[in-house]
This record gives sequence, structure tokens and C-alpha cells, in this order.
Amino acid sequence: MTSPDSTSINRVLVTGAAGYIGSHAALRLTEAGCEVTGYDDLSRGHRGAIMAIEQAARTASGSFSFIEGSISDRAGLAKILREREIDVVMHFAAFAYVGESVDIPLRYYDNNTGGACRLLEAVQDAGVQRLVFSSTCATYGEPPADRIPIAEDCPQSPINPYGHSKLMVERMLQDQVAAMQSAGQPFAAAALRYFNVAGSDPQGRVGEDHRPETHLIPICLEVAAGRREALTIFGEDYATPDGTCIRDYVHVLDLVDAHIEVMRALQPGELRRYNIGLGHGWSVREVLESCRRVTGREITARQGPRRAGDPPELFADAGRISRELGWEPKFTDLDETVATAWKWMQANPQGYGEL
Ligand code: UFG
Repeated sequence: MTSPDSTSINRVLVTGAAGYIGSHAALRLTEAGCEVTGYDDLSRGHRGAIMAIEQAARTASGSFSFIEGSISDRAGLAKILREREIDVVMHFAAFAYVGESVDIPLRYYDNNTGGACRLLEAVQDAGVQRLVFSSTCATYGEPPADRIPIAEDCPQSPINPYGHSKLMVERMLQDQVAAMQSAGQPFAAAALRYFNVAGSDPQGRVGEDHRPETHLIPICLEVAAGRREALTIFGEDYATPDGTCIRDYVHVLDLVDAHIEVMRALQPGELRRYNIGLGHGWSVREVLESCRRVTGREITARQGPRRAGDPPELFADAGRISRELGWEPKFTDLDETVATAWKWMQANPQGYGEL
């Protein structure tokens, strides 16, 4: 179900193109034949990711170029959007550490919420008609057990500043879509609420390199690679079958494909909201076992206390995007997802090197 002129949606600006998800999106779009402008302030992203996309773009059907800049630079962004006649903005640039957001909330409201506001102003200034926003299941907070699997109509009640900073952007999009519609200048937007994004480009060109790393799969793999001594399992006394938390691990390529489907489907005046996940979860122990199988290595694990703010079980009802756009995840085997992350980590033992 794509719009009649979906083939003419070709020029895409990707904010956060040097980050984990943004780099995969920029690479995939370039290979899908789009003219991609990567945009990143490199405060948390990696120049190495940009170099890898530039390298891949040489043999791709589309093109890629990079501009270093901040999403808060309204005038600079508007100029780029106009000059490059951008059709769609994919907005990934954000801070994404829940713990940091609790310690330094204003950093999150400034960058994630204020930055998105500046970006939306630039989008309006330049007359760009579509935006796809990187939202999160953290906007749901801790839904009651009877709302799991989580559907899009589950009440959004974040439990940390990170989730609030993203939920406010969803609200801004809703209001902006309505205002532009009333003004007779239709603008369309989508908020994709990701569950646990995992894996890497199967060809190993770009990957996941957070500093510090806090995510379960890369931590297990760092132990396997000898870069870390042990995994600490945050709680084994949850009311789940093996006592550890359950999460929905969606492969980054499936996630990026969802963005491309949505970008092509968006019609003027629409606001779409989609959960992106597999629709079921794996426990921390199951993920650990998968990492052991894939790497063939012993991965030392220790029992630790619960981490504050971890709900026992979170997984998506991703039926809406499947019904409306025909999106289905291709990576449904956890070992396969882990194998893609392991491939990149083995080829890049130092990640992207220096920041
Ligand atoms: N875990 C451990 N040990 C670790 C790291 C993680 O046991 O060293 C456990 C966590 O307690 C959790 C599971 O592994 O049960 C997954 O943890 P991650 O940190 O990998 O992912 P989260 O589910 O905490 O976070 C994800 C996204 C966030 C988003 C959040 C919403 O990465 O951006 O979901 O709940 F905000």
C-alpha cells in the first residue's frame, strides 16, 4: 500500500546518520536508490560509520553525502533542506540512555525535545512534507500485564525523562500535522515506537558501538570477545518463566525497512503511529544462551540486583504495521540476529576506534 507518487520520494535527510540506527538507515536508503544526506553533530555518533557508508555508496544505486551539524541549527537545516529539495526527513538524532536521562534530565529535554522542535521549524520553513520520527516503547512506561503485548493504543505513561522527551515529540508532531492541515499546507509524519533494536548490517559494514555500552546483546558479545569480564544479570527473581526480564529484539534492518515502507506510504495530512517489534520476547537468560551458541564461547554471567526501572516483560503487538503496510520482520531467529552483531564485532574489535 504505497502512495501513487511514492517513487518520487527519493531525497532523504537522515539525522543521526553516524549513530547505530541512523547509519543502518542511511546505508539501506542509499542502496535502495535514494539520494541521502546524512546529518549528525558527531557528539555521540562515529565518523567511522560515515566513512563506511561513503565507501558502500560508491557501488550503490543511490548516493550519500554527509554534513556535520546540529539539529538545533534551524537556519542551517532549513537551508540544506531547501537546497537539496529534501522529500523526507528521517529523524534519529537523540540521546538514548535511560539512566543518564534520570541523572541529567535537561540534557534530554534540550536535545531530544528542544532539538526536535528546531528541526520541525526548519522542516516547516523549507516546506518539507514528510517526517519519520524515531520513537520508543519507553513512551509506554510500565504497562499493566493485561496490556501486553503492547498495542499502539496502550496508554503512554513514561517512567523516565528519556521516555517523556520522546513522547513530547510525538505530541508536537500531532499538533503540527493538525496546524499545517488547517493552514492548507499538508504535512505528514510518523512515529515509530521501537522495542529492543539489535543486530548489525549482515555484511558487517556498519554496526553498534555505544560508549558506554549498556545493551544486553553487545555486552554478552564483549564478554565473548574478551573485552569484558562478565555479564551481570540484572535480577533473576522476576515473575517470568526463568526469573529474568523478557524483551522483544527486532533486527535493525527490519526496523529500517519499516521506516522505508512508512516513508513511502505517508499521505498528506496523516500522522501514523506504529510499534516495531517481533510480537514476542526472549528472556535475558535466553539471549545469553543464544550468544553462547553463536560465538561458541563461554560467556561468564553473574547474578546481580534488579536495575531500577526495568519492567519484567515488554513485547510488541506489531499487528498494525503488518496489516496496513504488509511489513513483516525477516529476522525472527534470535541466533541469526546475534550472528550479525557478532560478525561486525569480530571484524571491528575496537568498534569504530576513537570517537
Ligand atoms: N540486562 C542485563 N545486564 C546488562 C544489560 C542488560 O541483565 O548488563 C538486561 C536488562 O535488565 C533488561 C534486558 O537485559 O532486562 C535488556 O536490557 P537493554 O539495556 O539491552 O535494553 P532495555 O530493554 O533496557 O532498553 C531498551 C532500549 C531503550 C529503551 C527501553 C525501553 O535500548 O532505548 O528499551 O524500555 F528506552
